[in-house]
Amino acid sequence: MITNRMKDLFGKALLDYQNGKYTQDIITSTSISDDDILPVPYLFRGYKDMPIIEQKALKLCKGNILDVGCGAGSHSLYLQEKGFSVKSIDVSPGAITVSKQRGVLNATLKDVLNETETFDTILLLMNGTGIFKELNQVSKYLSHLKSLLKPKGQILIDSSDIKYMYEDEDGGYWMNMNSSYYGELDYFLSYKGKNENPMKWLYLDFDTLKFACDAVGLNCESVLDGEHFDYLARLR
Ligand SMILES: C[S@@+](CC[C@H](N)C(=O)[O-])C[C@H]1O[C@@H](n2cnc3c(N)ncnc32)[C@H](O)[C@@H]1O
Repeated sequence: MITNRMKDLFGKALLDYQNGKYTQDIITSTSISDDDILPVPYLFRGYKDMPIIEQKALKLCKGNILDVGCGAGSHSLYLQEKGFSVKSIDVSPGAITVSKQRGVLNATLKDVLNETETFDTILLLMNGTGIFKELNQVSKYLSHLKSLLKPKGQILIDSSDIKYMYEDEDGGYWMNMNSSYYGELDYFLSYKGKNENPMKWLYLDFDTLKFACDAVGLNCESVLDGEHFDYLARLR
């Protein structure tokens, strides 16, 4: 969601919460939707407050794990407590500081494209396809993730089919089928009156993810559907 050239308002919100200075939530909007609230406490969620697809992903973890875009480290902490060896990476300096303060043992400021170690499980949660940014970058990210897998390793990733966001009151869709893929959004974030630089954030429907996986030689299976057009996929 954040790159180093950005102001890291996401990380600032995490730091404020961690340091007892929580007074406001993050405001997000997209190219196709108005302001929405992202409650900062949600980013510090425990297992019981996680969506079922995240709980399922945690249950499927095995071996040594890479938590990509770890945020405040909520998934890493759960896995660490279960005895797994976890490496947690994020491009947000604030997220890495908070993860370390919360007790994540191996948290590193790193873009996933610069990761070189290999893992039995790679976890990308809370719309894990978001970091791919655009449809034409998906194969680059998938190929790289594949190169980080140990033999019999797995990638667990969630996303949503956001076609419903284009539905009008009559049940029709207002998307332009000739324009770019409908899951490619411009994403805007603000916190405490400051605006983050706009970023690109990708939602992928399952069939499009599967198609992209086939192209790079990854087997893609749907593990579980969530409650609102979201799903968990396992790539091997
Ligand atoms: C929606 S947040 C999810 C945070 C966390 N996984 C959770 O579920 O609470 C996405 C995270 O991915 C990080 N991120 C974005 N692009 C990344 C990249 N290329 N490599 C590593 N982390 C990235 C962002 O800084 C952000 O912390």
